[in-house]
Amino acid sequence: MKPAVLVTREVFDEVLVFLGEHFEVESNQGDTPFSPDEFAARLADKAGALATIGDRVDESLLARCPQLRAVCNIAVGFNNLDLAACSQHGVMATNTPGVLDDSTADFIWALILAAARRVGESERYLRAGQWRGWKLKQFLGTDVHHATLGILGMGRIGQKVARRAWGFDMRVVYHNTRRLPPDIERACKATYVGMDELLAQADILSVHTPYSPATHHLVSANEFAKMKDGVVFIHASRGGVVDDGALVAALKSGRIGAAGLDVYEGEPKLHAELLKFENVVLTPHIASSSEATRRNMAMLAAQNLVTALTGAVPPNLLNPDVKPSVK
Ligand code: DGY
Repeated sequence: MKPAVLVTREVFDEVLVFLGEHFEVESNQGDTPFSPDEFAARLADKAGALATIGDRVDESLLARCPQLRAVCNIAVGFNNLDLAACSQHGVMATNTPGVLDDSTADFIWALILAAARRVGESERYLRAGQWRGWKLKQFLGTDVHHATLGILGMGRIGQKVARRAWGFDMRVVYHNTRRLPPDIERACKATYVGMDELLAQADILSVHTPYSPATHHLVSANEFAKMKDGVVFIHASRGGVVDDGALVAALKSGRIGAAGLDVYEGEPKLHAELLKFENVVLTPHIASSSEATRRNMAMLAAQNLVTALTGAVPPNLLNPDVKPSVK
């Protein structure tokens, strides 16, 4: 008999076809998120799950799912997965690194340009029928070219963002927990600086760190206070890395000139006051969402699941202390 797996949210048809070749598939193509109880009930008799960032996998869930051997996130981020608990229960956890880097970096540039050059605000003005003709001082924005781009968190996506800055003749500075090897720094044309220097030097500051207890509110009132007046602030990594209350205060004070945000603390809810600022571009966690990339992410997660449940080590295993087993 084929192992049973759960697909927690809507995926592309080819992914379901592929999974169906290997598993008995129960899938939530209606796409309504499961409550924690429903998730546990549906997963109780499954060997694997194709999951998304909204599916919390922790001790209380795992204790109710004795058959479970693999949870494969359709995301590079995995802060919805308690890896220690997964290991404790012998459950392999995987993510989808690499396939979304370029699309995500493209989108971060969309946020940079839209925020700096007031695209959202001016489009709303035009659509509201307020445009009466060309004016010299209309929607004066901030130049991106020749500015200093600061990158906080220089992993795969941060590096892709840096490389895209060349075309704008920018200077790129970055801060990371570990300094990059010289050849990568050269390839990115990026200079390592301390956190305070990064905050002080960046005209445009983009945050690229995963969420963990260590990065909770990594950017808060103290950090906003050290940024340049009028900085363009970009955040598309993970809700919780930035203290959204402090961000609102920094926007109110004028410290931040413009912002482009794709992720929020407690999303899909967001700090109500963010909606009030004309100089903030707000998007609904879509940085990786090109058609090709979301298809690739879902298929990579499905391949991880097939590999994990057929007794091999999936390439994107996050907790290598768990060894594959065929039950
Ligand atoms: C990820 O992959 O972690 C993204 O945030 C979801 O698109």
